[in-house]
Amino acid sequence: MQTTTHATQCPHHRADFEPKSGAAPAVSRRRDVPGPPPTPLLGWRGNALKFFRNPIAYMTHLRATYGDVAKLVQGSNPTLFYRSSHVQPSTYFGFGPECNRQILTDIELFQSRPPRGPHTQTAEQMATNLFFINGSRHKQQRKLLMPHFSKNSLKHYHGFVVDYTNAMIDGWKEGEAVELTKALGDTLMYIGSKSFYGIDATKDSESLVQLMRIMMYNMFTPGTMIPINLPGTPYRRMIRLMRRIRDQLIQEIQQKRQGDLAGTDVLSKIVRANVDDPTQVTDDELIGEAFVLFFASQDAGTRALLWTLFLLAQHPDVMAELLDELDEHLHGEAPAYEQIFELPVLDRVVKESLRILSPAIMFGRETSRIAQLGSYLIPAGSEVVYSPYMTHMDPEIYPEPKRFRPDRWLDFKPSAYQYLPFGAGARMCLGASFGAMQVRLMVAIIVQRCRLEVIPGTKIDLTVNVVMSPKNGLPMIVRRQDRDFRKSRGPVEGYITRMVDFS
Ligand code: HEM
Repeated sequence: MQTTTHATQCPHHRADFEPKSGAAPAVSRRRDVPGPPPTPLLGWRGNALKFFRNPIAYMTHLRATYGDVAKLVQGSNPTLFYRSSHVQPSTYFGFGPECNRQILTDIELFQSRPPRGPHTQTAEQMATNLFFINGSRHKQQRKLLMPHFSKNSLKHYHGFVVDYTNAMIDGWKEGEAVELTKALGDTLMYIGSKSFYGIDATKDSESLVQLMRIMMYNMFTPGTMIPINLPGTPYRRMIRLMRRIRDQLIQEIQQKRQGDLAGTDVLSKIVRANVDDPTQVTDDELIGEAFVLFFASQDAGTRALLWTLFLLAQHPDVMAELLDELDEHLHGEAPAYEQIFELPVLDRVVKESLRILSPAIMFGRETSRIAQLGSYLIPAGSEVVYSPYMTHMDPEIYPEPKRFRPDRWLDFKPSAYQYLPFGAGARMCLGASFGAMQVRLMVAIIVQRCRLEVIPGTKIDLTVNVVMSPKNGLPMIVRRQDRDFRKSRGPVEGYITRMVDFS
């Protein structure tokens, strides 16, 4: 009875909505998902532009106006992030723990898709990786890669993190302004290339990892996503860059195949798996996984560190408490692997930083069939966005969400869908323990050696690519650690002041 009513009343009812033999989820209400009207001149494109210009502001407005489930725009729009084969998809946003649970628990219903951008054979090979595959292959690839992020493997990578971090600080001079996004990004690149490929990237500016870095910065820019394949266009440049990276990856893989395959880096181990049984990991998967390990590990890790150091500089009392703890337990040394998670103040600081300035703002999925989002039904082929950041800003879960208050973690244990800087469910970050170790270890080393000062008046606006970064970098002045924490704090301007309450 109800289905008939819905079918005749709902303007969005079409064949896609037909329940498939027992697969229809139970919904309590049947209404059209609300969303803002199309912009007067540009239609849905105007809404998409507003969203890309400031996703945080757009999502905040959607949630405040329409609630936990909203559309980018009334009517339909082509998917924003993915190539879709569906004729009339729309972009939906699911905010809050319940939507996170729905989106992240059923990974066959909410599937991952390759991003927009060049649609070439090389791009296909590189997208054959954990991020974008689904089904049994995803499960199987995760099983293959997971052991390389076990405790024993992390112990091995620990030394690389310590060495490259100390080398970075050795290169800094007292009183100089260091652009932290670049400095930390370089160091994470060295750590990643050593741990994942066994390559020392400090030696070669034309190396594979440097090329990957260029790709990473350009990948989700509008120019690259608009398919104009003419000389000089960003799209054409991206195609060429991808080819160079793919060729160098193949070369690297060949060298490992011809060597003794005894390397302890992740690539050596998966090449070995490919040699032992090519059905376990195919040649294309080898390229895709080698690519994604680097790609996935860099940006979010760099931003996690950057924002933690910035927040510490802006909160002298927290910084003092942290340094007291580190001095007491470490006496100026880097924490041993076993100590990293035994430092409660450091733990709370990192947890709170990953909450308030969660580097991974949002991710998308595509529904493989009719799905329930909140209390709505949405059709197959819908693009669905979930946002760790928006969840972390919910005042019902986190009172005074814009205040950096590490102490809130003293007696608070959120559910997996209330706190998700690394995602949740079967697609949760593969490198979560690596990332969690790396950020704690690097913060502990850096703050014991240096006091980083915010330059008064720095304007911090944000750019959201896959992760959230300061638009024009974040320079800070390097001082020896002299415990003069109040001097580290500086008044700042820009959108950051709307995200964090510095009062
Ligand atoms: C602080 C650092 C990091 C943060 C905040 C972070 C965050 C995330 C998030 C939120 C997701 C879920 C994406 C989704 O739901 O679609 C994810 C997935 C992933 N991350 Fe990380 N990540 C970090 C470090 C790393 C590192 C070091 C690696 C190293 C290999 C890594 C590899 C991956 C991979 C392969 C996936 C896809 C997993 C899948 O779909 O099965 N990440 N990460």
